[in-house]
Amino acid sequence: MGIMFKGMRKIVSSSPHHLIPRKVKFDWHATPIDWIKGEPFASHFINAIHLMFPAGELWMCRMINRAIPYLDDPKLIEDARAFIRQEAMHARSHSSAVDEHLKAYGLYPDEYQQRVNKLFEEILMDEPFGVRLPKPLQKEWLIFRLGCMAVFEHIACVLGQYALDHEKWEEVADPVMLDLLRWHGAEEVEHRSVVFDIYHGVGGGYVGRYMCTGLVLAAVTVLWTQGATEILRKHPDIKVDPSIAHGWFSQQWRRATSLGLLPTLPWVAGKMLGYFSPFYNPIHEGSTEQALAYLETSVGYLATQKPVPAAVPFVDQTVQA
Ligand SMILES: [Fe+2]
Ligand SMILES: [Fe+2]
Repeated sequence: MGIMFKGMRKIVSSSPHHLIPRKVKFDWHATPIDWIKGEPFASHFINAIHLMFPAGELWMCRMINRAIPYLDDPKLIEDARAFIRQEAMHARSHSSAVDEHLKAYGLYPDEYQQRVNKLFEEILMDEPFGVRLPKPLQKEWLIFRLGCMAVFEHIACVLGQYALDHEKWEEVADPVMLDLLRWHGAEEVEHRSVVFDIYHGVGGGYVGRYMCTGLVLAAVTVLWTQGATEILRKHPDIKVDPSIAHGWFSQQWRRATSLGLLPTLPWVAGKMLGYFSPFYNPIHEGSTEQALAYLETSVGYLATQKPVPAAVPFVDQTVQA
């Protein structure tokens, strides 16, 4: 099988360098319940990602594994394998925040987590709702899911770049949580082209991407707001109903965005608009240089690096004194 073409475009890796899977370790014992000081809404709105990401990222790893046999470009296959290792570490790190941060403070919404897990571990797997698809539809179902993943990855990249750029958090945020967000965000920027390339490499096109974008935006909005609401419902200091149907949620949202603790909706909408362009390429989003520079300094990453042993002076025993 030769290299695949969509129209006249050769589907090869767009990533400018070799992706590096990194191990990380985060110590949550000193992270306070509201890791953005005095701001439970902003803290736990962001904490919803710890509940969504592990199942979603492990699902992406499985989908990329299924897509690899359809790829021809050796660099894109290398990217795909590194992507899987990076996403698996992201999932593990967010799970550690669930186990050692959310659960430690009694903020774990068990039923919500089960719904998220069911979505990624059953509904979006190869036999949705237990239905075995006919052979011709199996590849189309994979392409559709890769298209949805490409949208997730666009969102992850723009939010990752936001985390790297956003200096306001440095004044008010717990450094361990901030490092998790920036390390993860930097790797999202680093591997931002991989799923987009794979989606097109397996046969996905522009129209499918357009359809996936609407579905993913709706799903992410519902999942994220529900996750945040369910965490806040368990918060010992929140005495009101935090659901989105009540005024408190939108009032807190406006407060957090006006203080620069969360991105505004117009900013998010502007970042999504570019994805609809037929000329969109993730390579034009985010800065690889900035991401790699942060990754060199991430405390969570450095904690896994063994100290380099002191150099032993070389003595040539064959030389007679
Ligand atoms: Fe990730
Ligand atoms: Fe990613």
